[in-house]
Amino acid sequence: MKELRFSVLAMILLVVITTACQMDDLSSTVKPTESTLNLPTTPFNYGIVEGNDLPTLGRVLFYDPRLSINNSVSCGSCHKQALAFTDQTSLSLGFENKTTTRNSMPIQNIVAINFTGIPDPFGGSSLPTALFWDGRQNNLEAMVLEPIQNHIEMGTVDLNQLALEIAAIPDYPTLFQKAFPGQGITITPGTIGRALAAFLVSIRSTGSKFDVFLNTGAGLTDLELQGRGLFFDKYDCNSCHQLQSPINGYQLAGSGEFGGFSDIGLDPEPTDGGAFRSTNNPADKGKFKIPSLRNVALTSPYMHDGRFETLEEVMDHYSEGIKGSENLDPRLRTIDGGPKQFNIPVADQQAMVAFLNSLTDHQMIRDVKFSDPFK
Ligand code: HEC
Ligand code: HEC
Repeated sequence: MKELRFSVLAMILLVVITTACQMDDLSSTVKPTESTLNLPTTPFNYGIVEGNDLPTLGRVLFYDPRLSINNSVSCGSCHKQALAFTDQTSLSLGFENKTTTRNSMPIQNIVAINFTGIPDPFGGSSLPTALFWDGRQNNLEAMVLEPIQNHIEMGTVDLNQLALEIAAIPDYPTLFQKAFPGQGITITPGTIGRALAAFLVSIRSTGSKFDVFLNTGAGLTDLELQGRGLFFDKYDCNSCHQLQSPINGYQLAGSGEFGGFSDIGLDPEPTDGGAFRSTNNPADKGKFKIPSLRNVALTSPYMHDGRFETLEEVMDHYSEGIKGSENLDPRLRTIDGGPKQFNIPVADQQAMVAFLNSLTDHQMIRDVKFSDPFK
């Protein structure tokens, strides 16, 4: 009797253990180790003082799906170069095809502390970019480790374990040695973060038709010029989307003020708290990072939740869709405080869309040094 009870117990124990192991299966997925890397013998010039081997390593990590728990998703899955590093999905899909809660963001012109040699492309401040739609992070080296560990995005449970697994992949020890010369064991979460960050800060967008216009005063069509006038003057879109300065999404250092965030009246009762999540200040509820409109023609769908498919739909929002919400930006209110309707005539909308299309940087999206080295 006793023996029977014992073996029943043992059976139960065995079942429990095997189920636990099955659940754990994902985290023990073996990383494939074959090499398919295609790197130039002399590294590309990334223009940062720390050297070119650091961003080269970052590029490889950025496109390596082995950073995700089941080797299925890389940073590049949700940040595609051809789309200014966005992904054409309202809410991005993670390693198990579950949806994230927000729209993937373009990666360009990020300013980060601890990197020298890459000046702000618009000659602005050296304040670090506030990252994510809610600005909850401004340390890029720490930030890049978040999607790797995010349970929906890439699902890696243990970064130290990941570092060990990466060390066992033949390409990496040499890449890390070159990127961090003369140091001991260099494959750690910290160096993975630093290399990824170095790659990200090197992604600069300054090659659009609009940039040519800024430098030479020429190159825009009549319609684009007309749209530019409407954008900067008549509708004052530039009061938020400052195309020539680095204000967009920047935290104002020291002052405690949270700059570059705004509620544009998408919903009367915002369901996503937005910047409130970073500041815990009720006055920040419903405020989101003012996105850069560089490459905006490529970054559809639009807004933090990807609710609009086209730039025309965005125009409709500003024209007659702004809702009265608690923290609606004063620039989008009438004198009596209600939501402003800009009633933008179709011709004006078309001209502004033409202008927004001139912000596409065809050099950046084709530049080999930002492309997938596994192809
Ligand atoms: C599953 C899709 C997905 C993957 C994989 C992913 N991201 Fe993202 N990324 C997003 C989404 C969605 C956001 C916006 C999240 C938010 O605001 O909460 C974002 C935001 C960012 C931002 C902020 C940009 C800004 O201007 O604020 C950076 C930088 C970034 N990701 C880099 C990376 C890196 C590096 C990796 C790989 C380690 C990565 N991402 C992997 C979807 C993804
Ligand atoms: C009061 C500040 C403010 C003004 C003025 C403003 N915007 Fe915006 N705009 C924002 C914010 C904030 C977002 C992102 C909102 C979100 O996702 O919740 C945004 C989003 C957008 C987007 C989508 C970008 C993307 O990547 O998803 C476009 C396009 C755009 N605005 C164009 C315009 C145009 C054109 C005007 C002038 C008619 C304008 N904006 C005026 C703050 C502003």
